[in-house]
Amino acid sequence: MKECNCVFSIFGATGDLTRRKLLPAFYFMEQEKQLKNDFRIICIARKEKSADAYRKEAAEAIKKFSRIKVNDEILNKLLSRIHYYRLELSDKPGYENLKRRIEEISGEKSSHCERIFYLAVPYYLLGTIVHNLKSAGLAERHAEKKPYCRLMFEKPFGHNLKSAKELNSTITKVFDEKQIYRIDHYMAKELVQNLLVLRFANSIFEPLWNEDYIDHIQITVAESLGVETRGNYYEKAGAIRDVIQNHMMQLLTLVAMAAPKSMSADDVKNEKVEVLKSIKLNKKYAHKNVVIGQYGKGKINEKSVVAYREEQDVSSNSTTETYAALKVQINNKMWKNVPFYLRTGKRLKDRATEIVIVYKDVPFSLFSKSKPEKNMLIIRVQPYEGITIQFNAKVPGNRVIIDNVEMDFCHECKFGPNSPEAYERLLYDVMIGDQTLFTRWDEVQNAWKFVDALTKSFKGGKPLKYDAGSWGPKEADLLIGKDGRKWVEPKRPSYADLLRK
Ligand code: BG6
Repeated sequence: MKECNCVFSIFGATGDLTRRKLLPAFYFMEQEKQLKNDFRIICIARKEKSADAYRKEAAEAIKKFSRIKVNDEILNKLLSRIHYYRLELSDKPGYENLKRRIEEISGEKSSHCERIFYLAVPYYLLGTIVHNLKSAGLAERHAEKKPYCRLMFEKPFGHNLKSAKELNSTITKVFDEKQIYRIDHYMAKELVQNLLVLRFANSIFEPLWNEDYIDHIQITVAESLGVETRGNYYEKAGAIRDVIQNHMMQLLTLVAMAAPKSMSADDVKNEKVEVLKSIKLNKKYAHKNVVIGQYGKGKINEKSVVAYREEQDVSSNSTTETYAALKVQINNKMWKNVPFYLRTGKRLKDRATEIVIVYKDVPFSLFSKSKPEKNMLIIRVQPYEGITIQFNAKVPGNRVIIDNVEMDFCHECKFGPNSPEAYERLLYDVMIGDQTLFTRWDEVQNAWKFVDALTKSFKGGKPLKYDAGSWGPKEADLLIGKDGRKWVEPKRPSYADLLRK
């Protein structure tokens, strides 16, 4: 593994993302010896505090959120790399001081030490930071000129197509596309990356991956967590902007794309964009093809939880959707008559991200007494990473009775529990300059085009209530039920007990 040499600056260093994900990911990288001796992290936030006070908080966060056991020696090594810098984001001179600070910290190597800026802040602050980085001379655009800079940021990228375009134009005036790393952490999940291998490195799936054999496809991103402390953000986002615009579009495009010319980042993205351009929501029947919901109170794992409207920072008459289910078509030959049913929601019965490929019935059944079930391929992205094939078999005995059985691939049983967490992979990739798992602008743009049409389709419509701890509003069952189909509820696979969850 390559070791990373750079000064990594995090804007929004006292926020949730830094505490829960970034610092623990750096801890993992420290343990894996992926950071060079001169690698440094500058944590930037508005609050006045000493570096020691910040390091203490960082240590607590790492101990709380690290997925691996924390060893004091490794932790102290990581903490010694961390600096704290107080900055008002709109304060221009503050960025000039930041530049001096970066040069000081990188010492003699300053002239060839790469600089990465991670903007863990709301999207409306990105423009201000980017402008100020440029004015301070912190946004070197050409790779030949050292020190080379990279910019990383999180979704949501804008609030709709218009704001996303404005934001993109602001950023690309300062940084080249090659320097921009738009994160969708779903792309770094092992089973998501596995999708392309499953499809294109096996001869038993791809020949059947089209409308001749597939009846329909379901994609579920279900969470049992509620909105937690993110009410302020979520009130403006809702489930569609929070999850469908990005994570679900990534899953959908990887499932539906045609074979790329090569596995190069650009060839794969070109095919994904083709899918995004072809997604259609039947506008005339939009009201029948989209269901939005909002959770009421209920029980999750026997524990009572409050309704969305009673959550912190949420309006008591909020109409923000915490659930959405929709039926879309992809307008191309490969998927002509194959509906895709998507659903996502918070405070659902279980946490599960799954893609289910439901195959057509056998064209002519020879077994008149016992009807075979449809075959299914279930790709479990989380929490029980793996793949299940469901097929029909004969029950032992004199008569031919058919039952459906499952064949499982359990990812952890085969490869062990230590596949990198999404942020560990993404931080490493940005440091070595690999953009494969990051989102290109035309992906974002086309996903927004679709989502704008989607949000327009129910404008003014109120979300339906569902009980926390259920699988969402009943109307979502009708959405798929009217086509003679039903949701495949996520369930514990046979190998679940073998895992350390
Ligand atoms: C984030 C959303 O992008 O993804 C959150 O903002 C959501 O609302 C989270 O909870 C889900 O990620 P994961 O990795 O837990 O499935």
